[in-house]
This record gives sequence, structure tokens and C-alpha cells, in this order.
Amino acid sequence: MKKISVLIVDDISETRESIRRLLQFESDIKVIGEAGSGSEAIRLAEELHPDIVLMDINMPEMDGIRATELLTLRVPASAVIIMSVQGEQAYLRRAMMAGAREYIIKPFTSDELAGAIAKVHEIEERKRQALGASAQAAAPVSQPRSGRVLSFFSTKGGVGKTTLAVNLAVSLAATGKWRVLLVDLNLQFGDVAVFLNLTPKRTIADITQASSLNYAEIQSCLLTHSSGLQVLTAPTRPEYAELVTAEHIDKILTEVKPHFDFIICDNISRFEDISLVSFDAAEQIWLVVSTDIPTLKNTKLSLEVLDGLHHSDKVRLILNRSGKEMGLDMQDVEKALNFRVSYEIPSDGRNLVAAVNKGVPFVSGHPGSKAAEGIRKMVEDLTLPRPAQDIAKFSPQQPSLWHYFRGIGKVFGF
Ligand SMILES: Nc1ncnc2c1ncn2[C@@H]1O[C@H](COP(=O)(O)OP(=O)(O)O)[C@@H](O)[C@H]1O
Ligand SMILES: [Mg+2]
Repeated sequence: MKKISVLIVDDISETRESIRRLLQFESDIKVIGEAGSGSEAIRLAEELHPDIVLMDINMPEMDGIRATELLTLRVPASAVIIMSVQGEQAYLRRAMMAGAREYIIKPFTSDELAGAIAKVHEIEERKRQALGASAQAAAPVSQPRSGRVLSFFSTKGGVGKTTLAVNLAVSLAATGKWRVLLVDLNLQFGDVAVFLNLTPKRTIADITQASSLNYAEIQSCLLTHSSGLQVLTAPTRPEYAELVTAEHIDKILTEVKPHFDFIICDNISRFEDISLVSFDAAEQIWLVVSTDIPTLKNTKLSLEVLDGLHHSDKVRLILNRSGKEMGLDMQDVEKALNFRVSYEIPSDGRNLVAAVNKGVPFVSGHPGSKAAEGIRKMVEDLTLPRPAQDIAKFSPQQPSLWHYFRGIGKVFGF
């Protein structure tokens, strides 16, 4: 008879070891892996497909409840048993709501543990049989994903690319419906990890040093944020950036596509090989613009370059930090660039800068803000059935950008 496969999740290695020992004489149970954190648990469960996941509640970074929630969505065939200590009862209800099938209070005996595992496994088996083949077919885990690449770009730094890329990615991931990867392509000074308060261990540079660049290698370098978002971070030091070439990025994007619904790339503010590779792979290029004339001038040039590269149909223009006090409004920007603004995110320094400093994306920390509302609109549009998506092109009205700039110049006295 096939043994019941078990993954042990606990941040304390001695606890994992003692649980392993408790199960070593159980002839019908096999421990197939151990994870020291919630995010590692998700990664291993996706790889190993254990029948049972023994999950500790209290873990740093991502606690067992959030990990259970994500596991239930991503690897529904693995059943979670929560391990808790006396006094954590308040969490048990939340754990069961998150999708755990059973809980067991520490310290437990080998009989108690093996009994819980056998009971949960039997119920799951019966459920599987009752659901039959249709349930297997509906399991979303192994289906190839559509891998829609969204590439964020702007003509200069500080416009809000990372802010918007991070918040869009977190919002999409937090729905629990989509598998989302955020790739930091600002290789020298990427700050995606800081925005998300994640500590990079292995980064994109490590992937390039592997003997073969395949998905397993990439997967071992991904971090999981508590929203469920997976992140490929930039190298930890600027000098490691040169280890990563455009060919690497091309291969990485090709490898990850079947595993994710959305792949969001945060680029540097320059046309160079790596950003061009991400534009080629992209379904949409999100050009972030602010309401200052130098940025508008350079954005106009960027639109021309992207047109020359046959990418203009992919471009979505986002006006960030908009607001009356900025002098120009959305209509001014549309006229100046002769391009429709798809989204407008207001200036909100109080909430947004505080969010970065705390490492909590504003869509989570300030969900009621106008900026968060703007991000939600993006998520809605992205997750609409495809044909209903917006048409970015704007019908020509302005003969020349320079005419327009001169007009604005007169108004502002320069
Ligand atoms: N709409 C906004 N309102 C206020 N501050 C913003 C807004 N968007 C971004 N910022 C702030 O501007 C700074 C630079 O943003 P960032 O996303 O790092 O820009 P980029 O990635 O284009 O260099 C950050 O401190 C961020 O919090
Ligand atoms: Mg940035």
C-alpha cells in the first residue's frame, strides 16, 4: 500500500526532528520533507505534493495560518493539520477557516499524531473518490498558466514604477486566484525587497551561476510574500548585477511563464538590453509618467522608440502623483503625449512614503486610500475577460508636442 506522505513545517529544527522521530516507526507514513518557514512550505508542497502537511502556527515572516490559506488554494490535494500549543486556541478557529482539516495540541504522542494523520488522510481519500475524476481535472495546480508579462517602465527614477509594480502585484496575488511573480530588473539598485520587507537570500544573480538555468533553479531563488506574491529579487550588491545578461532574463521569463498567471517586471529607467527583453516578452508595457515637463518630453520620446520597436499597442500609460497642485492635469498629459492615460494615481505622500518605510504595500496598509482604489481598478481591468480590455491609443488631436510645451511654457512664464 502507498504510504501517506507528510511534510513537516516548523521554524524550530529540533521540533521538526522530534516530529520526524515520532513518525519513524509508523509503517504507513513517510516524511518526505521539512520546511522551516511558511514560504518554504508552499514551495515544497508545490514540488512534492504531500498528502499531509503538519503546520506549526507560530512562525516568523509568514505564520502557519496564512501559509495554510495559500496552500489550500495552491495545492488543494495536500491536507493541512495544524500543530499548536495550549493557549493558541484563539488561532485554531482561524486556522480551520483558512482551510486546515484538523489540529493537534503540542506536546503530542506518536499515537495521537499518527492517528490524526490517518484520520485526515482517510477522509481526504473518501472525498477524492466521491469527487472522482472531475475533481482531478479541476485541480488547478498542474495546469499550465498563461504567464502574462507586465513590464513597468519610466524615463527617470522616482516616478513611481516600483511603488505601482509592487502594489499591483500584491493586489493580484492577494485575491488568491492568481499566481503572481514580481521580478526586480533594476539589477544594481533594485528595491522591491525593501518595499515588501523581504530579506533576499538567493537572488536573480544566483540563478545565472547555476549549471543549468531551469525552473527548479529559479524556484529555489523565489521569496514568498505574505500576500502569496512570489518575488525574484535583484542582486544584493550593485557589482553582482553584471552577472545577469539579457539572455539570462530572456530564458528566465520563458521558464517562469507556464508557472504563473502574471509576471510583473520592474525595470530601470533606461532603454537597454534587459529592459528591451522584458518589453519583447510583455503583453503590456506600463509606462509611468508624472506631470512635469521634462518627464513628458522624455515620455514622448519613449513612446516614439516603443513605436519604432512595434510595441506601441502594448503601452498603457499611468499618470502617477497627479493632483491639482501639480499644474498639469490628465487631459494636459493626454494632449501632450497624444496618448490615452489608462490610470491615474493621485499624489499621496503621507500614506505612500510611510508605506515604503514600513515595508507594507499601501494596498494593504491603506486600502481606503485613493491610490489603492486606482490599483484596484487596474486589477479589475487585468482580470476581465481579455477582449474587454481597454484600448490605449488616443485619437490624434495635437499636431506637435513641442507646440504644446511652448503653450504650457507661456502659461507658466518660461
Ligand atoms: N502617488 C504617489 N504619491 C506620493 N508619493 C509617491 C507616489 N508614488 C510614488 N511615491 C513615492 O515616490 C518615491 C519613489 O517611488 P519609486 O516607486 O521608488 O519610483 P521608481 O521606481 O520609479 O524609481 C517613493 O518614496 C514612493 O513612496
Ligand atoms: Mg524603482
